[in-house]
Amino acid sequence: MATAATTTHPAPRGTCPFAPPPAYQQAGRDTPVTRVTLWDGTPCWLVTRHQEARALLADPRFSADAARPGFPFLSAAARHLGAGKTSFIRMDDPEHGRLRRMLTGDFTIRRTAALRPAVQRAADELLDAMTTGRTTADLVAEFALPLPSLVICLLLGVPYQDHEFFQRCSRTLLRRDSPVAEVVAAQDELTAYLDALTDRKRTEPDDAILSRLVARGELPTEDIGAMGRLLLIAGHETTANMTALSVLALLRHPDQLAHLRAHPETTPAAVEELLRWLSIVQTGLTRVATEDAEIGGVLIRAGEGVVCQINTANRDERRYPDGDALDLTRDTRQHLAFGFGVHQCLGQPLARLELEIALDTLLRRLPGLRLDVPFEEVRFRHEMTVYGVESLPVAW
Ligand code: HEM
Repeated sequence: MATAATTTHPAPRGTCPFAPPPAYQQAGRDTPVTRVTLWDGTPCWLVTRHQEARALLADPRFSADAARPGFPFLSAAARHLGAGKTSFIRMDDPEHGRLRRMLTGDFTIRRTAALRPAVQRAADELLDAMTTGRTTADLVAEFALPLPSLVICLLLGVPYQDHEFFQRCSRTLLRRDSPVAEVVAAQDELTAYLDALTDRKRTEPDDAILSRLVARGELPTEDIGAMGRLLLIAGHETTANMTALSVLALLRHPDQLAHLRAHPETTPAAVEELLRWLSIVQTGLTRVATEDAEIGGVLIRAGEGVVCQINTANRDERRYPDGDALDLTRDTRQHLAFGFGVHQCLGQPLARLELEIALDTLLRRLPGLRLDVPFEEVRFRHEMTVYGVESLPVAW
C-alpha cells in the first residue's frame, strides 16, 4: 500500500523545543508509515506510531547492520562511521548477541543497584563543588555531564582525567553536521586511545570492564576497543543530556516540579515520564529490511531503509492519551525511550539509577533551583543525535 505524505528527514522542531517535529507528529496522525527523503536524497520509510514502532523493532527481518545495502544513514558522519569498525549496536544476531552477552552481567539491575553509594557520593561531591561559595552555575558543565562520565569511567576502567578528550570526540561523532574529515579524525583518535588503553590492561589489569574483556581471551584488542567506544559514548552523552533537559522541563512545569518536591518517593516514576516525554534519541533508530515485510499495512521491500521515530511514537495518542502533556503520574509502561527488541538499551538500569540520584539530589539540596537566563536564550542541541541543551545556567 502506498502512503500519501512525503516529508524530509530530519524535519525541524516547531515552537515547543521539547516536542518532536510537528511534521512527524502529523505524519503519525495521517498514516502508520510514511515516506521520507533523507539529507542525501535517499528515500526511506518513517515509522512514527507506537504499535508499529514496537512491531518494527521486534522484527528480525529488520537489520541494524550498517554494512547491508540500503541501510539508511542520517548524516554524512553516520555514513562514514557505518563503513568503519562498529560495535554490536550495528550488528545482528547471532554476533550481536554473542558480544552483548559478554556485558549483560555488568548491567543487571542488581549489579547496578550496588553502584548506588558510589553514584550518590559522586553526585554530592559535584554539588558541593558547584555550590560552595556560589549561587549560580552551568548545570551541564558542572553536574549533568561529569556525573555519568565519572561513572562510566569507573565501570570501564578509563581514567576520568581524560574526560575532555573523549567528550570532545564524542561530541564530534554525535553531531549530524560534523564535517566528515573531523568525524574521521575523532573516530581515529578515540579508537587509538581505547586500543592503547585495552593493550595496557593486558599488563596492568584492574577489575573494570575493559580488563575483564581482555581476561576472557576471546576478543582481539580492536573488538574490545570498539565495545569500549560504544559504552563510553552511550554511557555519558545520553544520561548527561537527559539530566539537564529533565531539570529544564521541570522548571518549565512548576506544577509537576511541585508534585515531585512534595513526593520525592515518586522520583522513579517521574524519571520514566521524563524519558517518554523527552525521548532524547531524536534522530530515531535506523534499520534496513532484509526481506519483504509489512508494518502497519505498508509493504516494505527487502533493501529499503526505515527510521523509527521513537520521540513521536512515545507521544502517540493511541498509547498515551494527551501524550504531549508532561504528567509525572501517568502510566508510562512500554515507552520506547530505550528502544525495544534485541537492541534495547543495555545501560538502562544504570541510566535510571543515575537519573533518579541526579534529580533527587538536586531537588533536595537546592530548594530554590531556578533558570538563570530567560528560557528563550537556552540553546538546544538540534544538530546532535542525542537531544539536549548546550548549557543550562541555573541559580539557587
Ligand atoms: C542502546 C537510549 C543510556 C548503552 C540504546 C538504544 C536506545 C538507547 C534508544 C537502542 C538503539 C537501537 O535500537 O538502535 C538510551 C537513553 C539513555 C541511555 C535514552 C539515557 C537516558 C545508556 C547508558 C549506557 C548505554 C548509561 C551504558 C553504559 C547502550 C548500549 C546500547 C544502547 C551498549 C546497544 C545495545 C544493543 O545494541 O544491544 N540506548 N541509552 N545506554 N545503549 Fe543506551
